[in-house]
Amino acid sequence: MKAKENLDKQTQIIADRLEGGSMPRHIAIIMDGNGRWAKKRSLPRSAGHYEGVASVRKATELCSDLGVGFLTLYAFSTENWNRPKEEVDTLMTLIGMAIERETPDLVRNNVHLNLIGDLDRMPEDARNRLFRCRKATEDCDGLTLTLCLSYSARWEITEAARQLARQAADGLIDIEKISESDISSRLSTSTMPDPDLLIRTGGETRLSNYLLWQAAYAELYFTDTLWPDFGKEQLADAIADYQHRERRFGRTSDQVAAQAAPPDGHS
Ligand code: IPE
Ligand code: IPE
Ligand code: MG
Repeated sequence: MKAKENLDKQTQIIADRLEGGSMPRHIAIIMDGNGRWAKKRSLPRSAGHYEGVASVRKATELCSDLGVGFLTLYAFSTENWNRPKEEVDTLMTLIGMAIERETPDLVRNNVHLNLIGDLDRMPEDARNRLFRCRKATEDCDGLTLTLCLSYSARWEITEAARQLARQAADGLIDIEKISESDISSRLSTSTMPDPDLLIRTGGETRLSNYLLWQAAYAELYFTDTLWPDFGKEQLADAIADYQHRERRFGRTSDQVAAQAAPPDGHS
């Protein structure tokens, strides 16, 4: 975490509130509800997407300030290509413009941009802007901000299966020895720990093809708050909720407590 005296007042209060609890190493977010946010205000859906960019900035800043290692955002799914062309075009333009505008701040905050998904499907202009930002932040070693673009978990798992099959056919791997880590290491998230906390805004309680493999043991947090209304306080609420969860990974509560307790004589 950044030194407290370098944090703004709001973030200091949040840091104090969360101090003492365990901080998720990796937070993944399904940023949903932009369209409904706009509709409530009789605005075009694009206005919700524009407003959603501000929430991305807030979440990135807070995670960076709190020392969260990885923030992974679902920005555009494989299935989102099925939206009206006009909305898709607006989203692509917005993503490219926003990432370019935010690049200096990302560098200043030592945030490293990572991109996952079928980026070949992205329009060239947006892709170039994203690649330029990734290049500009490649030496940053603070928060890793991953944008999932033209991403879906089934696409990613299928790609991994194809790679494994190719290597098996070429005699490079023994089919009988294929392990879970052989699959994990072929996913686009191979360099990251699995998400500890997975948040979905916008009131739906589904995963919509997001990180299906990696979220096997993520703590899920669903909120009705629409993404453009999801600010630092709301993210802090989600982290505080996470801090009260008992992560058992299949074991019993007693086993977890025994492991957490300090050894005899060291209380
Ligand atoms: C999330 O908001 C943004 C993207 C999926 C790109 P939506 O656009 O899905 O907003 P709702 O769900 O229609 O309110
Ligand atoms: C999920 O939101 C995808 C992203 C947030 C990028 P959607 O709004 O596309 O999900 P569904 O269609 O309601 O499941
Ligand atoms: Mg939606």
